[in-house]
Amino acid sequence: MGVTRAQVTGVGAYLPKQVLTNADLAKKLDTSDEWIRERTGIRERRIAAEGEFTSDLAIAASQEALRAAGLNASAIDMIVLATATPDETFPATATTVQARLGISRGAAFDVQAVCSGFIYALAVADNFIKAGQVKNCLVIGAETFSRIIDWDDRTTAVLFGDGAGAVVLSAAQGDGTVKDRGVLSTHLFSDGRLHDLLYVDGGPSKTRTTGLLRMEGREVFRHAVTNLSEAIELAMRSNGVEAADIDWFVPHQANQRILDATARKVGVHPSRVISTVAIHANTSAASVPLALAAAVNDGRIKRDQLLVLEAMGGGFTWGSSLIRW
Ligand code: ACO
Repeated sequence: MGVTRAQVTGVGAYLPKQVLTNADLAKKLDTSDEWIRERTGIRERRIAAEGEFTSDLAIAASQEALRAAGLNASAIDMIVLATATPDETFPATATTVQARLGISRGAAFDVQAVCSGFIYALAVADNFIKAGQVKNCLVIGAETFSRIIDWDDRTTAVLFGDGAGAVVLSAAQGDGTVKDRGVLSTHLFSDGRLHDLLYVDGGPSKTRTTGLLRMEGREVFRHAVTNLSEAIELAMRSNGVEAADIDWFVPHQANQRILDATARKVGVHPSRVISTVAIHANTSAASVPLALAAAVNDGRIKRDQLLVLEAMGGGFTWGSSLIRW
């Protein structure tokens, strides 16, 4: 039976110019390059310049994605931007991106699911496309996490960075089988009872401030491997595929040890894991499209290959998606 599929037609990425290495951090905090590498796999992260905002990062990534898709911005019907670090409390950063790309029609809005934001935004866009309401959609993950980091807290300051990634999704016809190109499934989850393990201690309603990130790292780690592997297994089961069928595992880039443990648990070989965490740390909603862009641009991810994407973040929220490239 013919179905509408959301196919990825272009990918883009942007990292701010300023590099902050582990050695730079060790000058200001009681930490070391060795500790950070061993526990996280992170070598360096990027920090947005003064006056450079989440929207600036998002626009750069989107322009690259549009170029790769061979589309003019005017063809975009909807922008879904995942971020936990918007330019302003309102309006949505997506509308700033919309205006600066010169788009004056359709809809633009933000999605807030912290590190899972890109998977949530992908699910929203996929469903709009499948429902026939949208033809071409920009799905963006963009963050300036450096602005909500407590730079005196070594347990969190070493883990995060700034960046953006974007994909263009376009409606196409498929046969309704796992051989179709495009988004084959998305699965989203949340459990608000786990708020205290990862949150920001401020916000417009509670404190009239932005607040700073607080985290129980060890607990987050424990939940991450369990939740992510269950979400991946569900994605595979719902599509009737096995770990051996997966060409590329494109995980949220939080910590190399979480990536490795999750891949091991679901049976994906380490050579099939796309990892970019070493060079940009955890960029929250930007991390999955940053990893995607790296592997598409270096030629690893090819047309017709099967990808599994996953992410988990504050809330907790988590999710997975299976995509035929
Ligand atoms: N440098 C040096 N020592 C440090 C640092 C640091 N930057 N941070 C913590 N330590 C110390 C701790 O104080 C502790 O010292 P103690 O034994 O004297 O008390 C020791 O190192 C061990 O601390 P743990 O927290 O047990 O270290 P762990 O091995 O769990 O690693 C880490 C910590 C890296 C945060 C890990 O738990 C982790 O990655 N958790 C997941 C967090 C994450 O990825 N969050 C992102 C958002 S959610 C997501 O994206 C999935």
